Amino acid sequence: MKIEIASRITKTDLLVLPFFAGEKPSRAQKTELEAYAYPDFEAKTNETLLVYQKNKLAPRILLVGLGEPEKALPDTWRQAGGTTTKTLKKNIRSVTLLPPKEDLYRLAAFVEGFLLGHYRYEDFLRDEERRLPDIETLTVIVEDKKIAHSLQGKIHEIQIVTDAVKSVRDMVNSPSNVMSPSIFEHLGKLTAKNGFKTRCNVLDEKKLKKLGMGCLLGVGQGAKERPRMLMLEYKYKPKNKHPILLVGKGICFDSGGINLKMQMLEDMKLDMAGAATVLGVFKVLGALRPELHVIGLMPLAENMPDGGAIKSGDVLIAFNGTTIEVVNTDAEGRLILADALSYGAKTYDPEAIIDLATLTGAAITALGYAITPFLTNSSVLKEKIEIAAHSADEKIWELPLEKTYRKSLESPIADLLNTNPKIGASTIQGGLFLEDFVGEKPWVHLDIAATAYIPEPRPYLPKGATGKHVRTLWEFLKHY
Ligand code: BES
Ligand code: ZN
Ligand code: ZN
Repeated sequence: MKIEIASRITKTDLLVLPFFAGEKPSRAQKTELEAYAYPDFEAKTNETLLVYQKNKLAPRILLVGLGEPEKALPDTWRQAGGTTTKTLKKNIRSVTLLPPKEDLYRLAAFVEGFLLGHYRYEDFLRDEERRLPDIETLTVIVEDKKIAHSLQGKIHEIQIVTDAVKSVRDMVNSPSNVMSPSIFEHLGKLTAKNGFKTRCNVLDEKKLKKLGMGCLLGVGQGAKERPRMLMLEYKYKPKNKHPILLVGKGICFDSGGINLKMQMLEDMKLDMAGAATVLGVFKVLGALRPELHVIGLMPLAENMPDGGAIKSGDVLIAFNGTTIEVVNTDAEGRLILADALSYGAKTYDPEAIIDLATLTGAAITALGYAITPFLTNSSVLKEKIEIAAHSADEKIWELPLEKTYRKSLESPIADLLNTNPKIGASTIQGGLFLEDFVGEKPWVHLDIAATAYIPEPRPYLPKGATGKHVRTLWEFLKHY
C-alpha cells in the first residue's frame, strides 16, 4: 500500500471524515459532504456511518467518530484508522483521509492504525472472496506544508514497523506444522540476510550439548524437530557500550509434554510469540538503522510427549549449573529461558535484558487480554519500558517480584522447582524463577501470554496474533 500526502482532494473511492462528538464539520470537510447534517451519527469513538453521494469526487464517505474532543488520545486516532479498515469492501482501492484538524502525531496514529488494521492471516485461504481486499493508496490531506513534511518523514518508519508487526502476526498465526523450529531458523537467517548490519548464528543440538544447555535440550527432547538456539546480532556505530539483550520464548508448539494440556491445545502454536516478536524487532532494526548494538536470543523447541520426552519429576541442569526439578513439564517456557538468559548474560555482558514470553495462563486471569504484566529487578529499566509502552499505547503493568514466594521454589532434591502448585501467583513465580538466571543485570520480563493472542478483535488488533510489543520495543530502542 502506498501512503501519499496531498494538499487537495482528488478522485477517490472512499473519503474518510473523522469527527469529534458535538463538533461541526470543518470547512474543508463541509465542501465534500452532500448533506451537512447526519442526525443518525453521534461521533462516538469507533462509530461509523457510510454514505453514498452523487457528483462528488468521492462516491462514498465514511464518517468515523472520535468521541468527545477533550477525551481523545493519540490512540483514539489509531483506533479510528483501524476501524476504517473494517468497513472496506473489495470495490475500494483508494482511500483518502480528510481530518478535522492537522496534527502530526494524530495523523501519524491514524495511518498506523489503518496499516495495523488492514491485516488478515490468509496463507491457507483459497477462496479469493475471503482474502483481504487490496488497498492501492491511502492519501492524507494536509494543507500545512510543515506538517506535511514531518508526516512524510514519519510514514517511512510507520510502514517498516507495521510491516514487522504483521510479519510477527503471520508467524504466530501460522500453525505449528508450518512454523517449526527449523522454519523459524530459516526465517531468522533470512532476516539477517535482508537486514542492514545484521548477522545470525544458530546453536544446534550438538553445540547446545557442548555448552551445557540441559534445559533447552530437555524440553525439546520429546519432539521430532530438534531444539536449537537462534541468535541475531545488530551492530551499527553503537551508542551503547554493552549490547541490549532481547530474549524470546520460542516454543513452536506447547502440548504440555507429559503433563499434557487439557485445554487450549489448538492455540498452542502461539507459544513462540516471544521469539517472533524479537525477530520482528530485528526486522525494524535492519531497516531503520539506529546506532545501537542489540543481541536477540530465541530458544526454539517443541514441547511434546513421547517415549523420549522429559518426565514429571526429572531434574535438568541449566547452562549456569542450576539444577531444576521439573515437577510440571508444562512449565517449559521458563526452562528454555533459563538457558537463554544465563547464556546471554554471561556471553554478551549486556547492559539491559528484556525477555518476552507467553509464560503463564495466569496472566490472562490477572490482567486480561489488554494489559501485559511485567516484572523487573531494575527501577531504571522499569521507567524506560513504561515510557516506551506508553508511547506505543501498548499497556503494561508491573507485578512484584515478591520474595516471600521465592522460598517455595526451592526443591528438596535440586536447587529449584520449575513451579510450585501450592502457592498460586503463577505469573510472579515465573518471574522469580527467571530472576535467578540474569544475575545482577538489569532485566525486564514481559509475560505476553494474554496479549500476544486474543480471542476478540480490537479496532486495530485482529483476533488471534496481535504482534504486540514490537512497537514498544522499537520505542524503547529508538530512545535508548
Ligand atoms: N504456554 C503456556 C502458557 C499459556 C497459557 C500461554 C495460555 C498462552 C495461553 C505455558 O507453557 C504453560 O503451560 N504454563 C502453565 C504453567 C503452570 C504449569 C505452572 C500455566 O500457565 O498453566
Ligand atoms: Zn507449557
Ligand atoms: Zn508454553
